[in-house]
Amino acid sequence: MLNEIVEINRRHTSNGNVASYIPDLGKACKEDLGICIIDKDNKIYTAGEYDTKFTIQSVSKPIVLAMALMDNDWSHVFSKVGMEPSGDPFNSIMKLEMNDTKKPCNPMINAGAIVTTSLIKGDSVEEKEERMLNFFRKIAKNDKLSINYDVYNSEKRTGDRNRAMAYLLKNDGFIEGDVEEVLDLYFKQCSIEIDTVDLARIGTNLATYGVDIETGERVLSESVSRMVKTFMVTCGMYDASGEFAIRVGIPAKSGVGGGILASVPNRMGIGVYGPSLDKKGNSIAGLRVLEDLSRMLKLNIF
Ligand code: DON
Repeated sequence: MLNEIVEINRRHTSNGNVASYIPDLGKACKEDLGICIIDKDNKIYTAGEYDTKFTIQSVSKPIVLAMALMDNDWSHVFSKVGMEPSGDPFNSIMKLEMNDTKKPCNPMINAGAIVTTSLIKGDSVEEKEERMLNFFRKIAKNDKLSINYDVYNSEKRTGDRNRAMAYLLKNDGFIEGDVEEVLDLYFKQCSIEIDTVDLARIGTNLATYGVDIETGERVLSESVSRMVKTFMVTCGMYDASGEFAIRVGIPAKSGVGGGILASVPNRMGIGVYGPSLDKKGNSIAGLRVLEDLSRMLKLNIF
């Protein structure tokens, strides 16, 4: 069934484009489409280009939010970033000026994610980076996760919109410390290389409310995993979050590398890869795959 869903939806890849504003992402193969599902019994199902490597990009945002919530008092986190969907594109700068508080709307858009990145604890930049990478390795159950330095350098060189946002956030008191150091860590988290199996594993850890299904080890608290999934529902697909909730009805987070992380509470984690994106920066065929899967397996949580 999975093979069929992937092959039927592959044609939609021609209606989108791979991201090019980060030059290195332009090298991805537009026709690629793959999926991995890991269910609550730890059974793994795959189809298409499920083991192609790509960078996590914005799918890192819920994971770094989890870290920020574990490293800080929640009241401190939410004094720096809001809880409301923005209804704007992921890289929009507009509401940082227009909102009364000037606070980024939520931790799933770039401005909010740069704030949560700044809340990662560590005595030095090296320690922060190591803690961040180790947490990704733990939640994805993959010790080999590492940074793709070509993509990282490509974004660091061209990421002036994020740089502008970060300086504005610093000016308004939402970022403490050195702006370039925060941006550097943000570009690194976005450049972590993964595949759909890693995303599906992260999805199962969220689906079980933080308990590893193989070892019984707790990797996240129940309350943090609940909070992260709630943000994924309300803000995970940016200004397409409402339509996605109607059509698919699963907590999910997209990235411009083509990844989508989805988590069906108490049932399964899903990783999708399809680098051809729609105008809002979400995987164009990946969305269709999730829509079909949700209908066929009755995954809609609503
Ligand atoms: O900051 C950026 O623009 C990228 N590193 C991540 C953006 C992203 O993945 C948006 N997702 N759909």
